[in-house]
This record gives sequence, structure tokens and C-alpha cells, in this order.
Amino acid sequence: MKILVFLGSVRTSTPPRPARLGERVARATVAWLLEAGHEVELIDPLDLDLPTSFKPQFAYAKGRAPAALDQLAEKIAAADGYVAVSPEYNHSMSPALADLLNHFGSSLFSFKPSAIVTYSAGQWGGARAAVNMRTFLAELGCLPVSSMVHVPHAQEVFAEDGSYLPDVDAARWQGYLGRTLLQLAWWAEAAQEQRAAGLPTDAFVTAPSQRNAP
Ligand SMILES: Cc1cc2nc3c(=O)[nH]c(=O)nc-3n(C[C@H](O)[C@H](O)[C@H](O)COP(=O)(O)O)c2cc1C
Repeated sequence: MKILVFLGSVRTSTPPRPARLGERVARATVAWLLEAGHEVELIDPLDLDLPTSFKPQFAYAKGRAPAALDQLAEKIAAADGYVAVSPEYNHSMSPALADLLNHFGSSLFSFKPSAIVTYSAGQWGGARAAVNMRTFLAELGCLPVSSMVHVPHAQEVFAEDGSYLPDVDAARWQGYLGRTLLQLAWWAEAAQEQRAAGLPTDAFVTAPSQRNAP
């Protein structure tokens, strides 16, 4: 399966330390998926040269959007599933991740699954952020699988390159990640087959009069 892993942190400043804890969580997620044989790409918002004033990719006239947005739109359209890796900021999902994903229309993500991976430097592992990520990802069209990954004290679990730190029970963590990522892969495969069989023709209506309840 083709899986995009979205990294939800652009925080290069400190404190709190360490900065961009999310890099290691996202790398560990990518490593798990690669080991399972998937085609994986890490999407890092810091690599994208996005305009500072917000304008979604779908709001530009065809061919006029910044190249970075068009290229990412193509990757999103071609993917079979997504992983959203987010820290918890004030009990909410990462604003950087919301900003990145808000640039794209739901038709690019629809009829494909997503998985939620959250983390924190403290003890809750981003569980509260994960709750509203379900709503966000569902609205985007990529339904989140039921299982989620939450990593408390992520700095004590992963080294900067995403490998496990020596004192950590790596097999147990791999199994924990696997519970969610195996669900993602299963749904991605099922959805891929079903997309090939055809999409419901009236699923995307744009005029409010067509979308609203009668
Ligand atoms: C603005 C801000 C808000 C935060 N809010 C929370 C929070 O609500 N819950 C929590 O567990 N940690 C919170 N933290 C601590 C983060 O878990 C920790 O800084 C983590 O490293 C953030 O991920 P990042 O380094 O990838 O940006 C917050 C950090 C920042 C910078």
C-alpha cells in the first residue's frame, strides 16, 4: 500500500525540550510501515515552501497553485492511506498539521483510511488531541481506524532517528504500533479494491442545496 505519514510539528524552538519530538515518532511509524512492505513517504511541513497567507490548493485556478501544493495534492490522491502524527498542544491537535491538511480538499482523501498517532513529552501521550483528530480526519474523508497510537514521554521511547532507546521494550512497542498500523493496512487494501470497483456517483455534490437535509 502507498501510505503518507504526515508529521505534525514545525516547532524548531525550545523550550520545551526537545523540539520536534514528533520527528522521532514519525520516523518510527515510517520504519514500521517500511518493514511491513509498504511504500511510505514522510510529509514534513518544514520541507514545503508554503505561502504564509492561507489559500487552499483547491482555491487556485487550475495550474496556478504553488508547485509544492500541486505536488502534494498528487501524492495525496495517489496514496491508499494516511497516518497523522500529532503532538498535543493545549489538549488539541497540532495547528501545523491542521494547517497543512486544510490546504487540500476531501475528494483527495476520500474512500481511504487514516490512522492517528499522537505523542507528548508528558504522561498522556496526546490522547486528548487524538479525540478531536477523529472528527477532523472523518470530515476530510479518510476515516480513522478504531485503534490509535499514543506515546507518552516519547523522548524516553525513541532516539532522534526513530529507533528505540536501549532501555525500552522494543518488541512490545512494535506490537503496540502494529495494532493500529495493521488495521490501517487492512482497510487500505479493502478500500483500494472497492475503489477499483467504482465510487458512488452522487457522493460529492458541491452545491449546499444538494448537500443539506431536505
Ligand atoms: C504550545 C504547546 C502546548 C502544549 N500543550 C500540551 C498539552 O496540552 N498536553 C501535553 O501533554 N503536552 C503539551 N505540550 C508539551 C508537548 O507534549 C511537548 O512539547 C512535545 O515535545 C511537543 O511536540 P513537538 O516537539 O513535536 O512539537 C505543549 C507544548 C507546547 C509547545
